[in-house]
Amino acid sequence: MQKKLNKIAKDTNLFLRRFISNQKKTELIIAMKYGLFSGGKKIRSKILIDIGSIFKLDYRSLIILGAAVECIHAYSLIHDDLPCMDDDSIRRGKASTHIKFGESTAVLAGNSLLTMAFEILSHKNLNINEKIKIRLINKISESSGHLGIAGGQYLDLSYEKKRVSKKKIIEMEIKKTGKLFSFCCAAPLIIKKKNKKDIKKFENIGADIGLLFQVADDLIDFEGNSLIAGKKTGKDKKKGKATLISLLGYKNTIKYANSLILKINNKLKKYGSKSKNLSESLNYILNRKK
Ligand code: IPE
Ligand code: IPE
Ligand code: MG
Ligand code: MG
Ligand code: MG
Repeated sequence: MQKKLNKIAKDTNLFLRRFISNQKKTELIIAMKYGLFSGGKKIRSKILIDIGSIFKLDYRSLIILGAAVECIHAYSLIHDDLPCMDDDSIRRGKASTHIKFGESTAVLAGNSLLTMAFEILSHKNLNINEKIKIRLINKISESSGHLGIAGGQYLDLSYEKKRVSKKKIIEMEIKKTGKLFSFCCAAPLIIKKKNKKDIKKFENIGADIGLLFQVADDLIDFEGNSLIAGKKTGKDKKKGKATLISLLGYKNTIKYANSLILKINNKLKKYGSKSKNLSESLNYILNRKK
């Protein structure tokens, strides 16, 4: 699994470096590159490639789509670490972008990474029919705004130090993290012009994978090692973040995560051995230490 992730990371970074080098140089790009190339597992791209291979999509297009997703993800991390959000000084084992470049630069680098995703998707180098491109751009926009990352981050912050129901915690985690995974799972079906029902089914699988990913991230914060994780741990408790661990306790959260894996694998049964790579990714997501 790690080998596959490394290859995906290499190919994605190569594409992004080329894409950026074809643009005019600016000072802001330095902070953008710092947030984009400071590491990162590229798990969202892996999920895209896992689903894409079930539906026989070409690897190159999937890498480009993944590159757009990783730009949005990198933006969300830069903003997540700002003092007005989680106020974190370490990300991916290095100084957070605002520590290195200052807050205003970090905000603007984040904004520009978000819009770079749309530059990538609308670029002629991505060889996809234009009507489909518009549907992809529509879906990724929805995943990023108030119905997705931004809305979820809003809830995450407004729930601090409050007792929040399980249902609301799950809704918040699906928005802030799950929706981008929904895009990764639905995009290959949108490209293959599958019917609405199947697209919805894979969006829901993506939401569950993203939820699993966020629950595992919360577990790393609870019990993980900050040197391995590349970010401070034990912060959620200090900040009074509403997580499943804070509500249900550690053991029940592990049980919940395992039940999620079962639920997702059940939905994938239909695809037989074609979904092997995706199942491998699910186990990696829960057992990872960073
Ligand atoms: C961290 O995401 C933030 C969450 C959504 C939980 P990742 O763990 O995917 O971050 P990188 O890209 O690997 O650093
Ligand atoms: C971040 O969740 C989710 C985002 C969409 C950025 P966290 O705040 O738990 O992520 P980390 O732990 O700082 O990486
Ligand atoms: Mg946060
Ligand atoms: Mg955070
Ligand atoms: Mg976290």
